[in-house]
Amino acid sequence: MLRKIFFTIFFLIPFSLMLYYGKETFYIDQQAASEQMYDYHFALVTEEVGNNYWRLIEKGAKQRAEELNIYLEYVGPKVTDTDERLDTLDRMIAANVDAIITKGMSDPRFRQLVQKAKEHNIPVATIDTDNATSGRDFYVGTDNFEAGYLAGKTLIEETEGEQKVVVIIGQKDAQNQMERLEGFEQAINQEKRIELVAVAESNITELGAADATYQLLKSRSDITAIFGITALDGMGIVQAIQEFQPTTRPYVLAFDILPETIDLIEDDKIQATIAQYPEEMGQKAVEEMYQLYQNGSPEQIHHTKTGVIKKEDIMNGEVFLKEGE
Ligand code: BGC
Repeated sequence: MLRKIFFTIFFLIPFSLMLYYGKETFYIDQQAASEQMYDYHFALVTEEVGNNYWRLIEKGAKQRAEELNIYLEYVGPKVTDTDERLDTLDRMIAANVDAIITKGMSDPRFRQLVQKAKEHNIPVATIDTDNATSGRDFYVGTDNFEAGYLAGKTLIEETEGEQKVVVIIGQKDAQNQMERLEGFEQAINQEKRIELVAVAESNITELGAADATYQLLKSRSDITAIFGITALDGMGIVQAIQEFQPTTRPYVLAFDILPETIDLIEDDKIQATIAQYPEEMGQKAVEEMYQLYQNGSPEQIHHTKTGVIKKEDIMNGEVFLKEGE
């Protein structure tokens, strides 16, 4: 009995304590070491973590971050949600990251958070969607008005006779999409035969776009063209057309060059799409943020390429953007 007590007091307890604290110390050391391995910690706050378009932005950003020895954290809501995205931004400020790259928002709380980040000396860049009055350091992404204008021009060039057009928009309060719509309207307003008859929201999901399109096709029989303004809208539009089977198939114009959209163009289900380059956006944003740390003041606007992609620009699933676009 005495031997047992002796063994517990002098051997088992000290040994357990040694193991516990040793492990803790080792864990902290490991964490510190991995943080020390990187020169900076940047946060990329996405609109929707699993969205394939945003995964391409993440891919480009991570690639450049790795080359520049930056730890890039990709965070945001599972499905698009304004409050959650703002909360994530706030959390990243509290975590005192070295920089934030995020989709610009028109919500006034976004501006307040950009200001808060600046008070903590955390630079902020907008990506994909700008908000120039928020005080952000710079923007990387498509010129959305021009892209919308290009879509309108494409519809003019590719159709004949009277056109009743509907637009499926992701969210009416998203600045990039409003700019695309403005550009589109400005282009088609030059042509009397083309009329925009409805705008419906998809909440940036394929299912939402399918639903909205189906309801529109059901409520009016004169629709001749449909323009899907965000990455998954074109796919949803095609789904609804397949289900509703209208007597004359509308002309479908999409946005982005995700593989599914390219397949649908090759199958003649989508006639054209406006290309954006999300991977380049991710790369460029990280690179410019890094430059900001090296040299101070960056240029305010960095537009990435856009262009119209039709069947003739695709070969074996690969897209070839024409020179000058
Ligand atoms: C837009 C993004 C949006 C995405 C949704 C893209 O066309 O540029 O802002 O999050 O579509 O799938």
